[in-house]
Amino acid sequence: MARKIIIDTDPGQDDAVAILLALASPELDLLGITCVAGNVPLEMTAKNARIICELANRPETRVFAGCDAPMSRKLVTAEHVHGKTGLDGITLPDPVMELQDQHAVDFLIETLRAEPEGTVTLVPIGPLTNIATAMERAPDIIPRIQEIVLMGGGCFEGGNITPAAEFNIYVDPEAAKLVFGAGVPLVVMPLDVTHKALTSRARVEAFRNAGRVGPAVASWTDFFERFDKEKYGSEGAPLHDPCTIAYLLQPELFTGRHINVEIETGSDLTLGMTVADWWRVSGRAPNATFMGGIDDDGFFTLLTERLARL
Ligand code: BDR
Ligand code: CA
Repeated sequence: MARKIIIDTDPGQDDAVAILLALASPELDLLGITCVAGNVPLEMTAKNARIICELANRPETRVFAGCDAPMSRKLVTAEHVHGKTGLDGITLPDPVMELQDQHAVDFLIETLRAEPEGTVTLVPIGPLTNIATAMERAPDIIPRIQEIVLMGGGCFEGGNITPAAEFNIYVDPEAAKLVFGAGVPLVVMPLDVTHKALTSRARVEAFRNAGRVGPAVASWTDFFERFDKEKYGSEGAPLHDPCTIAYLLQPELFTGRHINVEIETGSDLTLGMTVADWWRVSGRAPNATFMGGIDDDGFFTLLTERLARL
């Protein structure tokens, strides 16, 4: 039976690739896409999610709009990376499919209560506001979650929005603290992994030839590659968010450690830092499987093969 997942997202070109990978994979049953403010404001992330579903020819996918601002802070966005629309790189038609009426947080709560306990996996690839709000409002859902597989944080790689913090955690550190402290089985794809999942000319060209959605994926990766190559001085750009879905499909592509990870919410200097006890020196109980390694060739092969099916 296919594994039931909900993707919580702020598309974003790399979010888009993650969603396409999920839609292309029969091992996964995508119950819904919940949108959150992050890379761009909520109105745009909710629109982008539907553009992506229509690109994949899957307009029946349910898309929900959620929180338009972090739990207790002002929203920080990342148009400098993703462009004004969040999906800059190619102009796609405005979506025809409707947004669901229900709020994303209510959908998360209702679904986790309705489905058998331990059968729904959450895949957050944006700030954790929707997930934490659902947990705060309905703590009974927490033990019902099978697993959370998220993109966020960094250890040896430091941060990407500040020297200490990765964007998804930085935008809503209070939400991240709640999620990391909830006691749910947690798999984290930090920058330590995603900065090894780099595009290259050959990989982007392989995307371009990957069926109907290939040209759009190549245009998106081309777009944010420009920014990232300059920033990191690397050959290509990290493809962050699809690492979560790839893990659900082929966990053997990744290596990591079960360790303690705490979120900094007090310091201005290191706000949103994931304090990852990689060397197990704190004595604090492990709460997350924090990944550090990826078979990048295997990852890009999986992605390209799956995208070509759409
Ligand atoms: C994360 O931040 C966003 O810009 C990307 O979509 C990804 O989820 C990487 O730090
Ligand atoms: Ca994202």
